[in-house]
Amino acid sequence: MARPGAPGVPEAAAPRGYYNDKVVHQFVVATMFWGIVGMAVGVFIAAQLYWPALNFDTPWLSYGRLRPLHTNGVIFAFGGSVLFATSLYVVQRTCHVRLLSDRLASFVFWGWQLAMVSAVITLPLGITQSKEYAELEWPIDILIAVVWVAYGWLFFGTIAKRRVKHIYVANWFYGAYIIGVCMLHIVNNLAMPAGLFKSYSLYTGAVDAMAQWWYGHNAVAFLLTVGYLAMMYYFVPKQAQRPIYSYRLSIVHFWALISVYMWAGPHHLHYTALPDWAQSVGMVFSVILLAPSWGGAMNGILTLSGVWHKLRTDPILKFLIVAISFYMIATFEGPLLSIKTVNSLSHYTDWTVGHVHAGTLGWVAMISFGSLYSLYPRLIGAKEMFSIKWIDAHFWLHTIGVVFYIASMWIAGITQGLMWRATNADGTLTYSFVESLAVTYPYYLGRLLGGVMVLAGVCLMSWNMWRTRQSVQVPAAHPVLPPHAAEAQG
Ligand code: HEM
Ligand code: HEM
Repeated sequence: MARPGAPGVPEAAAPRGYYNDKVVHQFVVATMFWGIVGMAVGVFIAAQLYWPALNFDTPWLSYGRLRPLHTNGVIFAFGGSVLFATSLYVVQRTCHVRLLSDRLASFVFWGWQLAMVSAVITLPLGITQSKEYAELEWPIDILIAVVWVAYGWLFFGTIAKRRVKHIYVANWFYGAYIIGVCMLHIVNNLAMPAGLFKSYSLYTGAVDAMAQWWYGHNAVAFLLTVGYLAMMYYFVPKQAQRPIYSYRLSIVHFWALISVYMWAGPHHLHYTALPDWAQSVGMVFSVILLAPSWGGAMNGILTLSGVWHKLRTDPILKFLIVAISFYMIATFEGPLLSIKTVNSLSHYTDWTVGHVHAGTLGWVAMISFGSLYSLYPRLIGAKEMFSIKWIDAHFWLHTIGVVFYIASMWIAGITQGLMWRATNADGTLTYSFVESLAVTYPYYLGRLLGGVMVLAGVCLMSWNMWRTRQSVQVPAAHPVLPPHAAEAQG
């Protein structure tokens, strides 16, 4: 018989009630589903870049339409779902209270899924605002804004009714990501509708470009970074069974990161019509960003001080720690790419794509997988994941896949940049564009191979989760723990 408070079963008598794990469970399933869909599209477009005939002369299979489907699928559907899942799990555990409202939680889940399904339908049909990472047309934008405000209400409302005085640092990071994304989404998508599927941005010219890259860069900052740092601050100590290395550093990290990130957007618009001083401001703030990024990363890694040996036996910790290492790679590379002289070589090349996937596949995906492997058995009340060996296999498949991907793109990108700028003594170009493309070709195959490995790993993880779910008859219900109680049940 189903236990009270279990997913799908109403809350019942326990001194402080039960955590709402139903919505967490739903978002975990959504994460795996969208992860497979989004990355399968990534693999397909990577194959198209190698075999262009794979567009089958069909408009809705063309690269230009599937690429935004990939980015929206992996960033908002996969990346968004794992952030919803973990934030709603963590806020309850650290505040010792059930979510503010079950109805609101349900609305957030189904509203988000509706928005994502609308994206999957409209993008291949070519319905787009043509702004990168903000392609969705105005009716979907409004739906997203409403769902996001509801999410904020749910999260901050839960914090407001917490039973402990302290607000754990992971919640600060989740809070900043929720407020940041809300503001960015609404401001950048202000538009005048011209029919159900067409609108015109309220901004024009260089101002439009600036608003777009203020959004684009801070979507990376607040969604793909700050939200995942929240995961780091909860799941790394949890899995290592150690307190965070320095709580004071985590607070300095928080304020330094969110005050610097907002000003770095112009590094996406070097050598454009944007005023030169604005480009320089973007560059300087990007270089400064290295300090808080690495400071925070060290805080995560040093949490393992004294228990490094656990890395040998715990593949979940390996996921978490290697994720932080990729974060350090991406946040070293980012400031480098933002220096104008470097950007004059890297921009338009595959080096940018390599940087993007060091951040997204190395950092975002790995910290997500590590966190979910840690969370899932606790959530459903299993002793551990069905197969630890499979987690290890996934770790190696993913790590080798990512290295294939990013190394291919680095070599391809730098080669392209050097070939495009090479000139002869008389000032003519040494290489034609097609020649640079021919040289790049083998690396596209390398990327495709890496992508297939990553996708295979996600499928293995889903299977492992499915078998873990089957190992328990009924998912556990977790009573809300009294303040200061050890989180024995997770
Ligand atoms: C199986 C794994 C993946 C594969 C094979 C893959 C493949 C690709 C390809 C082929 C592109 C287009 C590159 C170009 O236009 O030249 C791309 C772009 C992109 N992908 Fe992925 N991807 C994967 C996973 C991910 C994940 C997990 C994320 C985010 C969480 C992500 C985020 C992005 C972004 C943001 C871009 C746009 C990059 C830019 O504009 O510079 N990808 N991906
Ligand atoms: C200190 C931190 C970082 C800095 C200063 C930084 C800087 C940069 C720069 C200069 C570019 C190239 C702009 C261009 O030439 O068009 C770029 C592109 C990009 N970065 Fe980063 N980066 C950082 C961290 C990250 C992380 C951690 C991620 C992912 C989780 C990420 C995701 C992206 C994406 C998606 C793009 C491509 C945007 C586009 O053109 O579509 N970055 N970044």
